[in-house]
Amino acid sequence: MEKIRVLVADDVAETRENIRRLLYFEKDIEVVGEAENGEEAVRMAEKLSPDVVLMDINMPVLDGIAATEMISLRVPTAAIVIMSVQGEQEYLKKAMMAGAREYLVKPFSSDELADTIRKVYQLEQKRRAVLAPTQAGTSERRNPKIITVFSTKGGVGKTTIAVNLAVALYQQTRKKVVLVDLDLQFGDVAIMLNVVPKRTISELVQEIAQLDSELLEAYLVSHSSGIKVLTAPLRPEYAELVTASHVEKILNLLKENYDYIVVDTPSYFQETTLTALDLSNLILLLVSLELPTIKNVKLALEILDTLHHKGKVKLVLNRSSNDIGVKCADMERSLNFQVAAHIPSDGRTVVAAVNKGIPFVISHPGSKIAEAIRELTSLVIENGGRRREQAAESKEAKGILARLFG
Ligand SMILES: Nc1ncnc2c1ncn2[C@@H]1O[C@H](COP(=O)(O)OP(=O)(O)OP(=O)(O)O)[C@@H](O)[C@H]1O
Ligand SMILES: [Mg+2]
Repeated sequence: MEKIRVLVADDVAETRENIRRLLYFEKDIEVVGEAENGEEAVRMAEKLSPDVVLMDINMPVLDGIAATEMISLRVPTAAIVIMSVQGEQEYLKKAMMAGAREYLVKPFSSDELADTIRKVYQLEQKRRAVLAPTQAGTSERRNPKIITVFSTKGGVGKTTIAVNLAVALYQQTRKKVVLVDLDLQFGDVAIMLNVVPKRTISELVQEIAQLDSELLEAYLVSHSSGIKVLTAPLRPEYAELVTASHVEKILNLLKENYDYIVVDTPSYFQETTLTALDLSNLILLLVSLELPTIKNVKLALEILDTLHHKGKVKLVLNRSSNDIGVKCADMERSLNFQVAAHIPSDGRTVVAAVNKGIPFVISHPGSKIAEAIRELTSLVIENGGRRREQAAESKEAKGILARLFG
């Protein structure tokens, strides 16, 4: 069962502790964070995308009303409940005008608290359900984006970034997100998300002739973070069953139902990868500060340029803090391309998350690396839209040589 995720903002530690205690036995509610003032509340709401924020009115740095107004604008999916003491009616009115959904008068019982949280959460769900079909129905307003994470070097962090980006896209937008593992031979997405797929892309392509978006849905695995996943074949030899035209059909069908389609890829240009690159709105090309990687990425940029994809490329520097030898500026000069996002090196967080099968944007939301992923996510949200027109039709499926010299 998905829990209702609650952020508590109150400057009195005892009150926060008390709320935790009151909610302790509610199985469907989880306190995911505590903020000591309004400013911290805004920051944490952006970071955690809680379902409900319990907000005190009088707080230092930034008061609860100003914080309510900022959160309503920046994290519209979070329903805010104001906690006031008797006699703050005037403030209550202001808080409701700032976007609060409900209020609680202190002191409250655990039943009152839990009921209010459930009530605003359910209302918010209904509100979204009403809004969603109108958004999906008007093709003009829906603007699905395909984001491919690519690199011409293995082990540079493609899967790590693809997985965390997909989850962060859902956290930040609450739109429909699907992650497609196109590393067909050795895909790691399922293991990184700790999902056990019953059916993978290799079973899916057996039904390609009658495939529609509804049937496709049956092959996607739901992850507890809220995203869907299309996993890679269970064995490397099944990879060959999946062709470029299958990939084209699958990605186009996913566009009917999903807002963000994140594609993880292997480290080489093969036909299925080329098709994903053709159909992408945005290509995140990963690089690290090592000479062999830089050399290969330089070649990749040349090829992407020849294929007319360079305009869609954003260069992402992974393990950016490992600048022992090569400096970022030198690399940018050598590649003649600017780095758009820096992801720091943080083996401790990454490995802990991988071993638990939980993306670090969920297990370690306060880490610098999670913060960097959220910045990359904002960049993707801003850029995907503008680049829409650049997502080309898929070229006739053929290999890299034929394309370069064709
Ligand atoms: N920013 C980072 N800090 C520390 N370790 C990282 C970072 N990014 C990735 N790693 C580690 O590097 C290794 C390779 O990462 P990952 O599997 O994501 O790369 P990949 O490009 O998908 O590899 P492959 O080409 O094999 O599919 C993993 O052990 C991962 O935990
Ligand atoms: Mg990988």
